[in-house]
Amino acid sequence: MFFSSFNNDRSKNEEILHPVLEKAGVSLSIKREDQLHEYVSGNKFRKLKYNFIEAKRLGYTTLLTFGGAYSNHIEATAAAGKIMGFQTIGVIRGDELAKNLENTLSNNETLYRASEAGMQFEFVSRAHYRDKMNPDFLETLRTELGAFYIIPEGGTNLLAVKGCAEILNPKDSDFDVLCCAVGTGGTIAGIINSTTSNQKVLGFPALKGDFLSAEIKKYTSKTNWQLSNEYHFGGYGKINKEGIAFINTFYDQQQILLDPIYTGKMMYGIFDMIEKGMFSKNTRILAIHTGGIQGIAGMNKKLKKKKLPLITAGYSK
Ligand SMILES: Cc1ncc(COP(=O)(O)O)c(C=O)c1O
Repeated sequence: MFFSSFNNDRSKNEEILHPVLEKAGVSLSIKREDQLHEYVSGNKFRKLKYNFIEAKRLGYTTLLTFGGAYSNHIEATAAAGKIMGFQTIGVIRGDELAKNLENTLSNNETLYRASEAGMQFEFVSRAHYRDKMNPDFLETLRTELGAFYIIPEGGTNLLAVKGCAEILNPKDSDFDVLCCAVGTGGTIAGIINSTTSNQKVLGFPALKGDFLSAEIKKYTSKTNWQLSNEYHFGGYGKINKEGIAFINTFYDQQQILLDPIYTGKMMYGIFDMIEKGMFSKNTRILAIHTGGIQGIAGMNKKLKKKKLPLITAGYSK
């Protein structure tokens, strides 16, 4: 079976070499979870693993989940569904996208690939989307579409956190600090749960808001973590010239592509903190590359409209 027999060896730690690190006397490695699989990559693989296994155990043949039009989670769920032989349904924010589906799909790589993987879409208005877990709404969908296993928006639930606890392996206990981008908090919670007591986890929220600590505490009782709230670049899905330049330069120097929504912000934050002397000499840092590269095409469309520089790094769209 795809998830349970998957060989995780493609996710390796790679050491980053950079004058900033040398000057500060710290070491930085990156765990290439983005290399796990072409479409079910990064934390998506980890979050989906036990949910698919559970859905199969319960006898479901259809999975339903939620997301925005450029969601990494939507694309990964569709791809995993195809591999695992599940029908998938994506409840997508924005009913305007349904008006001309052909046009929507030709302008949106995420939805195009999800559709190619067999995902069926239910486009809903933003107001309806906010209320997506409303039992009446879900019941209407069940009447229309039949029984389905629900994976929440962003894929975070207890089973996702269990999967994310497999990101670290016993050899990673050599690192002092683990760094991770944060959206809903599930990935970092899994990482926290698998740390040893002398390790520290540093989260870099990709969005504004004070609610994330409470979300993370739902899934972990450990206290060896903190969030660094200065690197969201204005909020979810937002980035500026400096962030884009950082991603492009990082690729030129390291040949590692970061995404603008999550991992680019995290790595920018790590370098900024190192330059500001916030890590003591000899600290060994491990940053988790949680994937998200598929979102670059969508971001470049937005950047083009705003006449901002594009993410060109190793990316030819
Ligand atoms: C590439 C990437 N990195 C990090 C995250 C953050 O994960 P979480 O929502 O579990 O905090 C996400 C969102 O799922 C993501 O797509």
